[in-house]
Amino acid sequence: MEDSPVAVAIPWFALAAATAVLAGAAWLIIRACKADESCCRLPPGSRGLPLLGESLEFFARSPSLELLPFLKQRLERYGPIFRTNIIAQDMIVSLDPELNNLVFQQEERLFQCWYPNSFMRVFGADSIITTFGSSHRHVRNLVLRLFGPENLRRAMLQEMQKTAQASLLSWLDRPSIEVKEEVSSMIFSIIAKKLISYDSSASNGKLWKQFDAFLQGLLAFPIYLPDTAFYECMQGRKNVMRMLRELLDERKKKTAHQLESIDFFDALIDELKQEKPAVSENVALDLLFLLLFASFETTSSGITAILRFLTDNPMALEELTEEHDRILKRKADPNSQITWEEYKSMKFTSHVIHEALRLANIAPVVFRKARQDVHIKGYTIPKGSKIILSPSNIHLNPTVYKDPNEFNPWRWKDIAEPAGGGSKDFMAFGGVRLCVGADFAKLQMAIFLHCLVTKWEAIKGGSMVLSPGLRFPDGFHIQLRAKA
Ligand code: HEM
Repeated sequence: MEDSPVAVAIPWFALAAATAVLAGAAWLIIRACKADESCCRLPPGSRGLPLLGESLEFFARSPSLELLPFLKQRLERYGPIFRTNIIAQDMIVSLDPELNNLVFQQEERLFQCWYPNSFMRVFGADSIITTFGSSHRHVRNLVLRLFGPENLRRAMLQEMQKTAQASLLSWLDRPSIEVKEEVSSMIFSIIAKKLISYDSSASNGKLWKQFDAFLQGLLAFPIYLPDTAFYECMQGRKNVMRMLRELLDERKKKTAHQLESIDFFDALIDELKQEKPAVSENVALDLLFLLLFASFETTSSGITAILRFLTDNPMALEELTEEHDRILKRKADPNSQITWEEYKSMKFTSHVIHEALRLANIAPVVFRKARQDVHIKGYTIPKGSKIILSPSNIHLNPTVYKDPNEFNPWRWKDIAEPAGGGSKDFMAFGGVRLCVGADFAKLQMAIFLHCLVTKWEAIKGGSMVLSPGLRFPDGFHIQLRAKA
């Protein structure tokens, strides 16, 4: 039978239509992929050497205040979002204000707190730094009982002033003071007393010495072999934790009658004794450990940076001194203690502190992990990616801060000071998960400066390599003399 024209026409027509549909679909897919190509790209970058990755460059110290060479070189090569491999871990680095802000604001939604293995082994698996949700809020509130404004005003202000005056007096006869070490020891003595009733002066500073090798070990390769930085750091942790545990056992034995809350440890023990305690013993011990360390290390770096900047900037020192002299003059009794209201009136001091923190970048990086795929600036940050944020690129950004490498406390007259310590242009104290010690650190710096500039003159005794790197260098010396 001859094929009817209709019977021939249908398959031909169907074939042509199907081909057209397929071609169209393919074109659409290609176009969609092209349009979306950038959206599926990982940020550029390099994994560096096998095993070592790019760790050596990352940890290299820098003699200048500018952005770390590791970050600067890659910023120029790849832009503000790039990949690297550090401490045997693939990571995405963000120097990008928008991404940094997103990470800090989307805490526990798009991103969550994460810190490298070496960090967690040193600070403990139960540390506040990787706790989330309600238990995190609970621990934060406990800490703020001690470090929040109310207790600072009521119980810490006077202690800080007394200790600063005594320390400065003890420096007077010495030809040279290594600022970072001396200030660390001063702050440690205040904090150790408040946290665990530890008397540094009666104990030869033994506990404080355990933290000596810490910074080197924190971000080192977690290789637990004698003589490595990590090993030294872990030995320090072991010794401090042993001492804290003994103290805990001792305090627990005390009856309710003997135990009236005298320090933060007792507040934690009270919490542990609740029917349903919100913290475990391990959380409590890891918390004490972190607070003992974080409080003195960060704040002493801040004070060292301020002194270094002031000794190079006589005009700033003069204006600061005038501010504090005015406070003294207004007092009925110039020897009376500084009040909270007087502290709050120290405007220029606050500018000096913010400017020093902006330049010194004491916490130059923070770490996070992506909880889901995040598409930003044409890149995909895949779920599970480990991220390093560096606020220093924002602090040193010339479009935000004119002449960013200059110490210019007066610039803060025109910049709204970040309420509570954080904003998108000032992240020295982090983002939503704001540093719980921010108020303590600022108060301690201001009170120390008050005691210093009203009575003493600091003569620069040496130079310091100030680096926004990971290890804030020691080595800045001053000599003190009493004011005429
Ligand atoms: C100049 C001084 C200080 C600077 C620059 C600083 C910086 C920071 C930054 C950037 C963060 C956020 C980390 C993150 O988001 O992962 C942070 C958190 C924290 N800081 Fe500070 N800090 C300082 C002083 C202190 C002091 C004095 C203490 C002691 C009380 C302290 C205890 C903590 C704790 C416990 C956290 C974790 C908070 C949380 O996870 O909720 N810091 N700090």
